[in-house]
Amino acid sequence: MFNAKLYNESNALQKTNTIKYLEEYKDMINWKKDSSILDIGCGDGSLTLKIFKELIPNCKTMTGCDISEDMIRFANEHYASGRVNFTTLNIEGELPHDLRERFHHVITFFALNWCRQQQTAFQNIYDMLKDQGSCFAIVTGKESLFDAYRNLAKAEKWKPWVTDVEKYISPYHDSQDSLKEMQQLLGKIGFTITKLELKMIFHEYENLEKLKGGIMSVVPFKIPDELYDDFFIDLSQEMQMFDTKKYNYKKSSNDFVFNVQILVLYVEKK
Ligand SMILES: C[S@@+](CC[C@H](N)C(=O)[O-])C[C@H]1O[C@@H](n2cnc3c(N)ncnc32)[C@H](O)[C@@H]1O
Repeated sequence: MFNAKLYNESNALQKTNTIKYLEEYKDMINWKKDSSILDIGCGDGSLTLKIFKELIPNCKTMTGCDISEDMIRFANEHYASGRVNFTTLNIEGELPHDLRERFHHVITFFALNWCRQQQTAFQNIYDMLKDQGSCFAIVTGKESLFDAYRNLAKAEKWKPWVTDVEKYISPYHDSQDSLKEMQQLLGKIGFTITKLELKMIFHEYENLEKLKGGIMSVVPFKIPDELYDDFFIDLSQEMQMFDTKKYNYKKSSNDFVFNVQILVLYVEKK
């Protein structure tokens, strides 16, 4: 789905913005000293290590997990250390027994929106937490990138490569009331909701090349090398159109801005 090296090289701004977000919530998150923390959908592992070093240095262990073997291989090669480790795990799959009630905290950024089985994913998180454990998550909601996928999937030129688009669109993208949907899901599982809100992230890139890197690092389609630049032109034009016409954002791809609506949640197992 993703290329770990490309993701690592091109996603720095998005990770910096995630850290900024996490810092905003730091007074609310009661990180336990000597705790075991799980980062779900850790990707290349760089964000996991950055969070460990900058925000939770006194935790006991930090485990990053991801469905992608390529990502976990990359993470283990570049970011593992004594207290930081990486392992493959499908958060929508059957939970290995030894992971039950293992962690004090779960964190997860831009990963749960890839899951079709939202209930299974959140139930697994609940089951992996110890009593009094907590989960802080950022989940993508609506974004023009998803609208653009749908349009490109219909275009003759891109149809052969832009396939299975619905698989990659956040379950909250079309939702009329994503907060209510999320609130009901979390309540059904048994979580106590401390925080649940919709926010916007405006990733402002320095130039077009960097915007291209940032966006293409999260595009799951395998576009042939010779069509790559052309694809980005069409994709970013579609995004610009939706950002201005559907969402009324002031800036978009023409200003090197990538707009993302997010659901931010902090829930506890009490
Ligand atoms: C956009 S990346 C985010 C990576 C990292 N959290 C960050 O913010 O930089 C999404 C990650 O979620 C992973 N992912 C998607 N579905 C998953 C699943 N069912 N279980 C675990 N990881 C999953 C992908 O492989 C990918 O590495």
